[in-house]
Amino acid sequence: MEKLYNEALKAFHNAYAPYSKFHVGAAVLLKNGKIVSGANVENASYGLSNCAERTALFKVYALGYRQDDIVKMLVLADTSDPVSPCGACRQVMSELLNPDTPIILTNLKKDVKVYTIKELLPYSFKESDMDDAKK
Ligand code: THU
Repeated sequence: MEKLYNEALKAFHNAYAPYSKFHVGAAVLLKNGKIVSGANVENASYGLSNCAERTALFKVYALGYRQDDIVKMLVLADTSDPVSPCGACRQVMSELLNPDTPIILTNLKKDVKVYTIKELLPYSFKESDMDDAKK
């Protein structure tokens, strides 16, 4: 947990958030022991900004790893309560993480809440929901 936290904290400091000034860091622990981190990266066209969670998970997948390679994920921000991932990130997590993978939500005070994506986004939209359209 300490190593994962510290990697997410480094990413938090690397966040590119000139518009919101709200920095977020995320880190994913893989079964081979490697840690892949990510930060939010904003854009003057605000809607093109990417959250820390998605940056980290997209990096994991771009490196060739898949959901079964992931042990857990940690997200932190300078919030009074453990940071709450946005809806878009929950949708992405629902596809890129296994349903029972621990998601550690925390902050700079190290308050911790641990959830799974099943809990954070019940009844999520998934590939099989499009099956009827393919008939
Ligand atoms: N943000 C994240 O990176 N993760 C979250 O869970 C919440 C929001 C970012 C997006 C944007 O750069 C800034 O925080 C303010 O919304």
